[in-house]
Amino acid sequence: MASIPRSMIVGTGVSIPSGILTNKDFEKMVDTSDEWIRERTGMEIRHIIEDGRYTSDLCTDAAQKALADAHLHVEEVDMILVATVTGDMGFPSTSCIAQEKLGAFNSAAMDISAACSGFIYGIALGDALIASGKNKTVLVIGAETLSRITDYTDRSTCVLFGDGAGAVVMQASDGERGVLGTYLKSDGRFGDLLRVEGLGTRYLPTHDSLDHRRHFIKMEGNKVFKEAVTSMGDAAVQILKQTQMTGDDVDLLITHQANLRIIDATAKRANIPPERVFINLEKYGNTSAASIPIALDEAIKAGRLGMDKVAMLAAFGSGFTWASAIVRF
Ligand code: UT7
Repeated sequence: MASIPRSMIVGTGVSIPSGILTNKDFEKMVDTSDEWIRERTGMEIRHIIEDGRYTSDLCTDAAQKALADAHLHVEEVDMILVATVTGDMGFPSTSCIAQEKLGAFNSAAMDISAACSGFIYGIALGDALIASGKNKTVLVIGAETLSRITDYTDRSTCVLFGDGAGAVVMQASDGERGVLGTYLKSDGRFGDLLRVEGLGTRYLPTHDSLDHRRHFIKMEGNKVFKEAVTSMGDAAVQILKQTQMTGDDVDLLITHQANLRIIDATAKRANIPPERVFINLEKYGNTSAASIPIALDEAIKAGRLGMDKVAMLAAFGSGFTWASAIVRF
């Protein structure tokens, strides 16, 4: 019997906007302090998108870099998956807008809405499309412009979020390298704890809706924190079980970058020591679906994920959604 082909990541790229907000900047905006932000989150800087640019621009930039890294031409792409909760418009999808900007006209394109877990959902979908033979070259992009839906009068959320994008190109694998397993989970009962209620059709953009600031992120941080620790830890344990690996087999843990304490707790659950955990949230804040592909690109370029190295990816986000994957490079 022929074995099911594996997919692998053959190129990565990022797009980091030029605007910057530091902890000191927030001290002038809300009642907070550099010390509080560092201690409670680990964050120092977030990048903010320039006026007149949109999520699709970040997607396009990151995707072009990932294709160049993979030595592939845009015409070879036959599927574009964009994970985002801050798309350019209600519709068309941000992936279709990015497709036009890329000139990737041999491709289908669709968006994935799974918040901070969206990039791993994209990897799982890309892997399944390649394994089934439906697609050959899949672009998976995580991209966010969270600054556009951040309430800069709410100290409990505004210090957390930043903008950016990361992209990977997936193709069929030659042998034992590639995506070794993926794990996806959701629980809609927790939806109210982290939400933007005013960007859909439930609350139209009326004066009342704007007065209630329904188009901004609202989060019950402490409750989200507790669930994030449990669920991201579970995602890590489940993917180890599925791939019959232990923490010792993982060369680098790359999680969603929401909070240093959540990352530490996940690493402990998976028995992965701190020197094998990748952290860059001090430079970008929480960029939701973009955080893992940005970290992945940085880790590869820093030489921390060379040939045959094993990465565990793990995420948790609104929905709630949580997810994990193990990839051999
Ligand atoms: O990305 C998707 C998933 N998201 C997450 O995983 C985020 C999960 N949550 C968190 O990371 C943390 O809950 C936060 C970083 C958001 C908050 O940290 P915390 O340790 O859970 O703080 P808290 O919400 O329990 O608040 C503690 C105190 C409160 O004051 P009192 O009631 O103790 O007087 C807050 O009002 O800190 C206060 N506080 C602040 N103080 C200074 C909240 N935000 C700030 C702030 N600066 N920016």
